[in-house]
Parts: sequence; structure tokens; C-alpha cells
Amino acid sequence: MQTLQQLPMPPQSGLLGHVSELKKPDIHRQMLAWIEEYGNTFRIKLGMKDVLVLADPAQIKTVLKERPEQFRRIKSIESVFEEAGLNGIFSADGERWKHQRKLTEPMFQPSHLKSFYPKLAEITCRLESRFAMLAQVGEVVELVDEFKRYTIDVTSLLAFGEDFNAIDKGETPLSASLRDVFPTINQRIKSPVPLWRFFKTSKDKQFEQSLNEVKRFVSSCIEKQRNALSDKPELADAPENMLQVMLSEQRQDPTLTDKEIVANAVTLLLAGEDTTANTLAWMAYLVSYDSVTSGQLNTELNEHAYETLPWPIPRLPITTAIMYEAMRLKPVAPQIYMESLEDNVVSGITLKKGTPIFCMLHASGFNPELFSQPKTFDPNRWLERGGASFSQLQPFGGGTRLCPGRSLAMMEIKLAFNALFKKFTIEPQQAAEEVIEQFAFTMSPVGFNVKVKLREQSKPKPVKSEEALSR
Ligand code: HEM
Repeated sequence: MQTLQQLPMPPQSGLLGHVSELKKPDIHRQMLAWIEEYGNTFRIKLGMKDVLVLADPAQIKTVLKERPEQFRRIKSIESVFEEAGLNGIFSADGERWKHQRKLTEPMFQPSHLKSFYPKLAEITCRLESRFAMLAQVGEVVELVDEFKRYTIDVTSLLAFGEDFNAIDKGETPLSASLRDVFPTINQRIKSPVPLWRFFKTSKDKQFEQSLNEVKRFVSSCIEKQRNALSDKPELADAPENMLQVMLSEQRQDPTLTDKEIVANAVTLLLAGEDTTANTLAWMAYLVSYDSVTSGQLNTELNEHAYETLPWPIPRLPITTAIMYEAMRLKPVAPQIYMESLEDNVVSGITLKKGTPIFCMLHASGFNPELFSQPKTFDPNRWLERGGASFSQLQPFGGGTRLCPGRSLAMMEIKLAFNALFKKFTIEPQQAAEEVIEQFAFTMSPVGFNVKVKLREQSKPKPVKSEEALSR
């Protein structure tokens, strides 16, 4: 048995310990470098507090499994979300979390996803039309933005029953506001001193304005869905979106407040938009710089005749292998922050109640004992008999709080990837190494600019002039 203070610690850069490193956009990479140097368990400092960093997948699984009794998300997550009036399923803990998880789960059940599927397919057709337009005009676009419009349309329909149609409309005041809200929340969670409570910078004021814009929008959606439930009471038995689930529950349990309903609806947007869009963009990035995988993908997508994939979605082993490989090499949720609810022993280390535990979900993907040549993009490792196993990765977390949106995310990913690569190719406008990994709540590709091109097989066959004349 060891104490936390006996563990090795990387050098600190100031009075606040490792806070400045934690706020850097490449902290996930820094963590991998520290793991290589100090091993799977070491400590860092968050202000005066010692933090246990865990990278061993089995130890991480144990911590995640023992929630909500022995461990919780680090308390600052709940207080920052609560202060913003957004304390929903992701940030709540204990009994409150249990209740919210029970309420949101029906949205992600296979039966609901099946009934949601036609709408998902419709939004995917819209995405494909957008790619067709981009191919025609030859505009350079940052690919992740295209996928974000797709995931925002899907998630807002699922959460609010509202089709934003961001794909066609582009930026809306709401999407701009959401962009202001999430990075500020991310910064505040990692701040040991809540400076914004004493002194408001212009960024803090902008945050408050954006937050009000988001809440106004969600309140108007709540009113609409309340009216829909009054007009069609049968919706209470087969709700179409999460607001309907929660408003029906509110009729049975008036302690469920509108504030909680707003918080959960916004939480779904937060959890579902960037994670899925970034994964899609990273998949496209990895494929576009690898001609062999591009060829394999073309063959797979040529083999089926569907414009939009049908339900149930075909297996698509190459697409799936690319998705797994992107989740391994470019993990969009590389780390989650926990805290011990009682005096505890983790990985043979004694911890005091309240000790923060940072779980490096992405570490196993870079472990050479689990994945040979871990830094190489090689989707075939997932296709070979006896090859890599997805259970060695933890992109969706684990235990009772495992990501409830994982099946939806994988559906969106397969549909959107098919929409892009069945008829089109992408032409990166920069060298691979110029695209930056940036971690701010999720890890996104910055600077992945592409031109969308119609694929040769998809181009209308040129008609010879004699043929044309004889028509
Ligand atoms: C590739 C896409 C996604 C990734 C990598 C991802 C990853 C994660 C991770 C790592 C967690 C924390 C799990 C834990 O604490 O053990 C999480 C939680 C969550 N995710 Fe996802 N997610 C994705 C897509 C989605 C989507 C599409 C939705 C919904 C529209 C969603 C909704 C949620 C919610 C509500 C939680 C909080 C669950 C709880 O605390 O009980 N996620 N996700």
C-alpha cells in the first residue's frame, strides 16, 4: 500500500500546480507523455490538492463501476453546471443523477431509435445534398463544421422535437450561443479559484448573454411540446422526444422542475454534438491521408446500392474498423475527472475522501502491449481474426454512467460517413501534420479544410457527341 504523496509527480510550473497545463489544448497528449515517463499511476497538483492520475484500463473500469456509491464526477463539474442552471444528467450525481438517467434512457432504447430512424435518414439526405452542393461550387470548408450541423440537427430533434435545419441554414443565433457556452464551462471546471464569481470579464458577460439565449430557446420548445401533449395526450405513452418524456413525467411528479428539464435538454446537445461530429471529422481525416484505406472504403460502399443506409444498418466492417481506429488514435473524450466519495484504496494507493481521480480513457489505445505499433493508423487490426478487441478501448466511459448515446452516435457516424464517401471524395487543403488536436471539453481537429469532389463512378457518364446527336 502506498500513499498518494509517495507517487511520482511531473514538475509543476507555478503556485497553482499543474493547472496551467490542464488548461492547455494539448493536455491529452501531455498526459500520454507523462504516462510514458511516470507509468500508469502518478499524481499531479490542482492548486494545493493532490490528484491521482489513472491510466490502467482495469483500474479505471473499477472506479467507473463503483459509481455513484464510492466515486462521483469531480464536484466542480456539478457546481459550474448548477451555477449556469444546466445541472442535468451529465453533471448531476447521487439520487438526482439516478432519476435523470432513468428519465433520459428511454430515448436511447433500440425501439425508440428504430422509430427515430426515418427522421435520421431524412437529415442524412440533407447532409448528402449539402455535400453535392459543395462539390458543385468547389468551396473549401472546415469539415468538422459540416458534421456539427448534422449532429446538431439530429440531437435537437431527439432532445427538443425541433428540427433546426442547421445543415441548410448554416450558423443560427442558437448554434453561435452554444459555441460560447461550452468552452467557458470547460475552463471553469478546471479553475481551482472561481474568479468569475468576483470579477466578470467581457468573456464572462458574453457567456451569460449566450446562456440566456440558449435558455430562452429551450423554454419556447418546452411550451411547444407542452401544447403538443395537450393536443395529443396519446404522446405520453409513445413520446417522440426527450422534452415529451420529461413533461409527461412532470405531470406525475411535480417536483421535476422546468429548470431541470431545460438542463437535460441542453446537456444532450452538449454531449451529443461535438463528440460525434469530431469523431466523424477525425475518421475522414485519417482516411483522406491513406490511399489504401480509401480504396477499401470505396469498395465497401460500392458493394451496396443504398443511397441512404436502411434499417437495420448493414454491418459495414471497413467503416466500423475506421471508426474504432479513429476512437483509438483520435479520442474525442480522452479523459474524465472523478472524485472519491469516501476514504478509499485505488490501485493500491490510499486516498482521502474528496481526492480527485483523473481517468485517462485514451491511454489503453496507445499501449503497445494491447495494440502493436499503436501510433500507426491501421484499420485492418480490427478486421483480422484474433486482432484488436473494442473492449480494450473505453471511448464511451464505463459502468453505470456509460455513455447512453453510444448506439445513436454509431448510427449517425455510419450514415454520415456513407453520405460523404459513397458519392464523393475529399481533397485535404493542407498537410496532415498541419491539422491540430485541440482539447476543450472534447478533442477536435482544427484546420482540417477540404474540398468535396464528386467521385469518378458517381459522375454522369460523358455522352459522345455522335450519341448525343442521334438522340
Ligand atoms: C462518438 C460519440 C460519443 C462519445 C465518444 C461519447 C463519450 C462519452 C463519455 C466518455 C461519457 C462519460 C461516461 C462516463 O462517465 O463513464 C459520456 C457521457 C454521456 N454521453 Fe456520450 N459520447 C458520444 C456521443 C453521445 C451522444 C450522441 C449523446 C446523446 C445525444 C450522448 C449523451 C451522453 C450523456 C447524456 C452522457 C452522460 C451520462 C451520465 O452521466 O449518466 N453521447 N459520453
